[in-house]
Amino acid sequence: MKQTLALFGGPKTVERNFDWPIFDETDVGCVADIVNSGKWGNPDCGGEVALFEKEFADFCGTKYAMTCVNGSVALRLALIACGVRPGDEVIVPPYTFIATASIVIEANCVPVFVDIDPRTYNLDASKIEAAITSRTKAIIPVHFAGQACAMDEILLLAKKYSLRVIEDACHAHGAEYKGRKLGSIGDAGCFSFQSSKNLTSGEGGMVVTNDDQLYQMMNSLRNVGRVEGGAWYEHHNAGCNYRITQLQAVLLSSQLKRLEEQTKRRHENGTYLNTLLSKIEGITPLSRGLGETVHSYHIYIFKYDKSKFNGFSKVDFARMLAAEGVPCFMGYPEPLYKQPLFQKKNFMCYAIPETVDYSKVQCPVTEMACYEEAVWIMQNAMLGSGDDMKLFASAIIKIQKSIQE
Ligand SMILES: Cc1ncc(COP(=O)(O)O)c(C=O)c1O
Repeated sequence: MKQTLALFGGPKTVERNFDWPIFDETDVGCVADIVNSGKWGNPDCGGEVALFEKEFADFCGTKYAMTCVNGSVALRLALIACGVRPGDEVIVPPYTFIATASIVIEANCVPVFVDIDPRTYNLDASKIEAAITSRTKAIIPVHFAGQACAMDEILLLAKKYSLRVIEDACHAHGAEYKGRKLGSIGDAGCFSFQSSKNLTSGEGGMVVTNDDQLYQMMNSLRNVGRVEGGAWYEHHNAGCNYRITQLQAVLLSSQLKRLEEQTKRRHENGTYLNTLLSKIEGITPLSRGLGETVHSYHIYIFKYDKSKFNGFSKVDFARMLAAEGVPCFMGYPEPLYKQPLFQKKNFMCYAIPETVDYSKVQCPVTEMACYEEAVWIMQNAMLGSGDDMKLFASAIIKIQKSIQE
């Protein structure tokens, strides 16, 4: 029997909502305690902030964890602390949030885009070496959607060419590569606690590292250039106030208690959804088994082949799927280098060499992902039940049947 799509007034396949964030009276209580204490700020980077940093460092297995206002600032502080100079080049993928590349501009450096691996949508390790020049100073691998990059290959190249590796782990709280927490493998790892992220306090960021010098410098930069043991009005470095509040720290501590169980659930649901969706012609989940031992599924990504859906574009398909009640999205509309920031070279006060030109950059795998293939299901939906995963697959089958008829 032909079923009417929800987009055209038929019944939705998935009726329930997938709430995010998840919290209870414990979270409310600990924030209320801080409100009642009157000690909301974080002038000395101590109190609840220091406690949460210790918990997160232990969670990641690193020597240090340093909070700051957001994931973008975490990346920028890590890059600056690596000692980059104006005009240095930094390798980044073009399939990521703008911050991964724009912080490179903000550090007066040049983002060099290297295409992604069609199997994972992560930086293609086999294409990095060709992009390395005498000016390359760092690589920022993004563990996109919560799936580990090819860290062994990336670290080998970094060693060969003396490059720093800053992991963008903003999607990857609790995810692992060969049993090691993402973020803890390179020189530094950066996390975001923005409201959509798998661990959140509305806004917030974190850098983890085992490197004493990097930590000392980042700690100074996030605290208006102060140094440990220095006086209040003694400023050694060109930093700013990037500190978080005690309210955020206590909420993050409370949320961190849920993270392991939630990550396990997303990982299991992702594995199950892979088996269900692989059976649908024209739908291909991204590959697994390339080193990731835990996938945090900040996003569940599958590839869509319009030739098996009567030529409907992925934008139309994502609209139909969302109407069926699956929390999904078409993802990035274009590769980062197509953004006006790069095409128009709106680099403002930043010292980017005149010769830099993004108009000729082409990364075909990223272009395919953006324009044709990639469809995202959001992390809150991946906290559903096994039956919910079955319904996600049914919704796709319903759309396929309906448009084929
Ligand atoms: C991959 C990636 N890197 C960095 C960031 C920046 O994090 P924030 O929004 O906390 O600055 C984001 C945020 O969405 C992200 O998705």
